[in-house]
Amino acid sequence: MERIQKVIANAGICSRRKAEELIEAGKVKVNGQVITELGYKVSDKDEIMVNDRIVEKTDKVYFLLNKPRGVVTTTSDDKGRKTVVDLIDTEYRIYPIGRLDYDTTGALLLTNNGEFANLIMHPKNEIDKVYLAKVEGIATGDIVKQLEKGVVVDEIKLSSSRVKIKKIDKEKEESFIELTIHEGKNHQVKKMLEAVKLPVIKLTRERIAFLDVKNLKSGEYRKLNKKEVSQLYVLANTNK
Ligand code: URA
Repeated sequence: MERIQKVIANAGICSRRKAEELIEAGKVKVNGQVITELGYKVSDKDEIMVNDRIVEKTDKVYFLLNKPRGVVTTTSDDKGRKTVVDLIDTEYRIYPIGRLDYDTTGALLLTNNGEFANLIMHPKNEIDKVYLAKVEGIATGDIVKQLEKGVVVDEIKLSSSRVKIKKIDKEKEESFIELTIHEGKNHQVKKMLEAVKLPVIKLTRERIAFLDVKNLKSGEYRKLNKKEVSQLYVLANTNK
């Protein structure tokens, strides 16, 4: 379900602000009924009319990007830096699902479907986000347990559902740790590892659910197919 002004704006009829004016002026109908409530939510099945003309809803699109380092995960940047949306050639108004830091690489989904984005992001739906972190220091079994139990940073509990030590380089005093998380709190992985005295040198998101970016070079992307999208819906709904 999406807010009606967003659906009207996404269909390219007018801006969201203008859509709000039209709603308040009683020019918008849903399934034949005038709607004046701005927060009114509609689904794909609803018929929306603006000034008695049917609104053709935009198709939903889904992209999987292998995000390179040095790109911001937003739709626009006030410092003029390149954004993840700039990397994707599409006529649709897409946005990233969740956030990867400027220096984090790897799997990132982008879409114009707000309902889908919420399903993927919401921790209760337990969609795995799998990260590989190269860290300073030697990881131990105790640290793994701590990370799985959750660490408190700035009074916020950050937890990871699975943690595995992938490699330890004793000479360089570095470790590679895989963390699977369902939340998407700001700088979550870096904060968790900092809290156990293993500061992150490099971070990449290897996978979101069953989607990895092994076949995509850095900066490359592909569309998800229908089967993948419906599998993600099924996963999110069954984990609820
Ligand atoms: N956690 C982080 O610290 N950074 C990211 O980019 C993603 C998760």
